[in-house]
Amino acid sequence: MVSTILYQGKAKNVHSTEDKDVLRLEYLDQATALNGKKKDAIRGKGELNNQITSLIFSELTKQGIKNHWLESISDKEQLVKKVEIIPLEVVLRNIATGSFTKRLGVKEGTKLPFPIIEFYYKDDELDDPFINEDHIKYLDIASESEVANLKKQALEINQKLQELFQSIDVTLVDFKLEFGKDTFNEIILSDEITPDTCRLWDQKTGQSLDKDIYRKDLGEIIPVYQEILNRLEERGE
Ligand code: C5P
Repeated sequence: MVSTILYQGKAKNVHSTEDKDVLRLEYLDQATALNGKKKDAIRGKGELNNQITSLIFSELTKQGIKNHWLESISDKEQLVKKVEIIPLEVVLRNIATGSFTKRLGVKEGTKLPFPIIEFYYKDDELDDPFINEDHIKYLDIASESEVANLKKQALEINQKLQELFQSIDVTLVDFKLEFGKDTFNEIILSDEITPDTCRLWDQKTGQSLDKDIYRKDLGEIIPVYQEILNRLEERGE
């Protein structure tokens, strides 16, 4: 396969393909936290995340959510539509935890009365700062109508994902999405949806089944990522 590496990321590399409208994502056996300050090689993680995100994106496609995912082509690789990524991390929260509780002094685990959307500016040098809609407009990252579109899509995706995780006895606490513009200039869901980018709590035990295990040094992440994959696969059977 003729390809060049276009971008080396913390969790995946992006390669070109012979088709100019298609990219190949290679999921890495690597975990990072604190914007890359904590970093470890973790064998098997790339494969699990490729499988988990592929399953979730194909489910979202079935439910009418347009996205960049095309197909998984090997253990760690998938093909996606080429998009121009909008440099925003769109975070949606259903339950208070993480940076939300630290920033606002809200009690950990508080159920939020409505989903709360936040934006972070994707910029490693600035440590992905929290920004508001005026900042987005000022920095010319997206127009007001594009921001409205991102929020609408994030809320719809939240509904679908909540149902999906509910069906495997997992609470979707919060998550991060990224969007990009496709070749028709349409804004579509991109990047990945995995336990790296979501907080997932087991409904019976309350245990974290996500990257918080790594962030907080609570143990091995492979068994919990495998648990999420197993439950998603069993659901589809
Ligand atoms: O750390 P914080 O509470 O702001 O994270 C909110 C959500 O966004 C979590 O699900 C986390 O996994 C995700 N996130 C992410 N990538 C980042 C920051 C947060 O996937 N760079």
